[in-house]
Amino acid sequence: MEELLRLEKLSVEYKVQDGYLSAVKDVDLSVNRGEVLAIVGESGCGKSTIAHAVMRLLPLHNERITGRILFEGTDLTQLSDAEMIAIRGKKIGMIFQNPLDSLNPVYRVGRQVEEAILLDGKDMATAMRETEQLFADVRMPDPASQMQRFPYELSGGMRQRVMIAMMLSRYPDLLIADEPTTALDVTIEAQIMDILTKLKVERNTAILLITHNFGIVAETADRIAVMYAGQLVEQGSVYEIFAQPAHPYTEKLMQALPRQSKEEGRLETIDGTVPRLTQVQPGCRFANRCPYASETCRTQDPPTVHAGGTHYYTCHTRKEDR
Ligand SMILES: Nc1ncnc2c1ncn2[C@@H]1O[C@H](COP(=O)(O)OP(=O)(O)O)[C@@H](O)[C@H]1O
Ligand SMILES: [Mg+2]
Repeated sequence: MEELLRLEKLSVEYKVQDGYLSAVKDVDLSVNRGEVLAIVGESGCGKSTIAHAVMRLLPLHNERITGRILFEGTDLTQLSDAEMIAIRGKKIGMIFQNPLDSLNPVYRVGRQVEEAILLDGKDMATAMRETEQLFADVRMPDPASQMQRFPYELSGGMRQRVMIAMMLSRYPDLLIADEPTTALDVTIEAQIMDILTKLKVERNTAILLITHNFGIVAETADRIAVMYAGQLVEQGSVYEIFAQPAHPYTEKLMQALPRQSKEEGRLETIDGTVPRLTQVQPGCRFANRCPYASETCRTQDPPTVHAGGTHYYTCHTRKEDR
């Protein structure tokens, strides 16, 4: 497996009124070519912050980043803005929860994808042909006529397909999908996840899938990284995590798995909320919500434990002792 992206001790803090908010803390994580890595955690855990840090698209410019973001061996944090523009879109594409934010309302969707292709110096006839093929690749019915539509004429699921097509038009090595199906109903969600999985296989695109929904990762991800309050608490293959969730937070997330509908299984069923940390203190960030927490958990940083294979978790307690 060839490593494509590696985060080394990545920390992101945001300057806020009462100091610096620790949104991501000391995250070590890698994504290999052609695999789907899912980052899972409740809202506020720092998932989007990681995505935006990799893309260098932190919108408010109030961030302080330490650590390294190595993409094909190059530290993205050290690149100039111009160098970063060359990577964005071409090497790393990103799709968001709400595609309307990224689509231009006044242009037909086919044209928007064609524009992306023209960026690579191809001619218009090629761009049109490739766009139609891409729309077919993302399983749009009747691609040629969909190309003529404006974003407002499409459903949420169709717009997300346009975004995926637009990102794929430039053959990125890495696609970051930040809650790509959160705004969609479960049937459409399943279709979009299916499209992403097929693209991984057909194009060897690595996908960093960000979600608060453990339910969608089982069939999609190769590996899982669980985040809590800015920290990585567990990682491993999808088999390792589903067979033997080792961190108490992961256990809770899996117990809160949505069953039938999106509404029924919201992750808010876990008591408490993710803390907003402006005063970083030693101790486990999950301690105040953890059924197994002891005094040690509240005062000392937990160790990272190897649970076999590619499976690691960061906790003071051992699964077998709980
Ligand atoms: N630009 C910002 N300025 C201040 N705080 C922010 C900013 N962006 C995100 N946050 C805060 O950082 C934390 C992590 O946010 P985020 O990365 O969006 O989490 P997630 O995507 O997992 O929901 C949250 O407490 C959020 O409110
Ligand atoms: Mg987010």
